[in-house]
Amino acid sequence: MKPIAIVYTSNTGYTGQYAALLGQQTGLPVYPLSGPGEGPAAGSPVLYLGWLMAGTVQGYAKAAKRYRVQAVCAVGMGATGSQLEDVRKTNKLPPELPLFTLQGGFDLQKLRGVYRLMMVVMAKTAGKALAGKQERSPDEDAMLELLTHGGSHVCAENLAAVLAWYQSEPQ
Ligand SMILES: Cc1cc2nc3c(=O)[nH]c(=O)nc-3n(C[C@H](O)[C@H](O)[C@H](O)COP(=O)(O)O)c2cc1C
Repeated sequence: MKPIAIVYTSNTGYTGQYAALLGQQTGLPVYPLSGPGEGPAAGSPVLYLGWLMAGTVQGYAKAAKRYRVQAVCAVGMGATGSQLEDVRKTNKLPPELPLFTLQGGFDLQKLRGVYRLMMVVMAKTAGKALAGKQERSPDEDAMLELLTHGGSHVCAENLAAVLAWYQSEPQ
């Protein structure tokens, strides 16, 4: 079933940018996941986007309770299309639910509180481990680059698979 709206959860804005791009590409209205009574009516079929925090798609559990989620986009640091199995497992997504991973961005200056602390530690530990690795996969290279230099990978091209799914979905 085609979604009638795009609903998202973003912390530093990259997921919001993907949601806005998808809105432009599909013509669907875009809403942040918010309080009851806001956004699409409960039970509506939606496309959900959430940022990845320690493997968890932020807001998905809440969105799945309120809406009929037709597909999920998880925005993280890994390359677009990577980590699919892990994300599905960690978030207990049903096998038939379409899942897409999108490479977002990282900017330490935009992070506050505990999230900032977690990423400072992560940049030191995971970043160091990745930097010291002899042979890195392209995904690891992409993650290392983001962790050490920050930046954004948000672009319309990364949405090609999501758009193809949307267009092939029956009404
Ligand atoms: C505390 C914290 C934990 C994160 N954990 C993951 C993770 O497990 N996997 C991943 O790919 N990205 C992870 N990220 C990176 C974010 O998902 C990425 O920066 C994303 O683009 C943020 O989107 P937003 O700007 O919409 O908040 C983490 C970021 C933070 C701050």
